Amino acid sequence: MALLWRSQFSVGNDLIDSDHQYLLEIINRAEVCLKSVDTVALTSVLNELANYGKSHFEREELVAKAVGYPKADLLHESHTRLVEQLTKFREGMESNRTKINADEVTSFLRDWLIQHVIKEDMLMKPWLTKHSPRFDPRQ
Ligand SMILES: [Fe+2]
Repeated sequence: MALLWRSQFSVGNDLIDSDHQYLLEIINRAEVCLKSVDTVALTSVLNELANYGKSHFEREELVAKAVGYPKADLLHESHTRLVEQLTKFREGMESNRTKINADEVTSFLRDWLIQHVIKEDMLMKPWLTKHSPRFDPRQ
């Protein structure tokens, strides 16, 4: 079953929340590819996840600094780790294409996103909610 967005996932900033919703949607698309054993489509969806993930992390770090989040540097380190984790996982999959375990990939992707959103980004919520949900430092 597809992973659904919940209001508890909201960090109180629309820019970050909509990025997270889109990341969730990419992961749901990856799960459809896994179910239909479409490895070509899966590779392209995971490429999108890696690229969108990186651009999301950049936007998020910009917001974190702009709202004065004191752990912005730690957030950057954690993002670097998340990018590395995903790269490693994808390399492992590429080297063992015939043995892709759908459940294993699904739980990795869900953990990757949910742990990031809940464990890391939620810590920023008190700083984010001092501003309007529409706060966007790029404007
Ligand atoms: Fe995030």
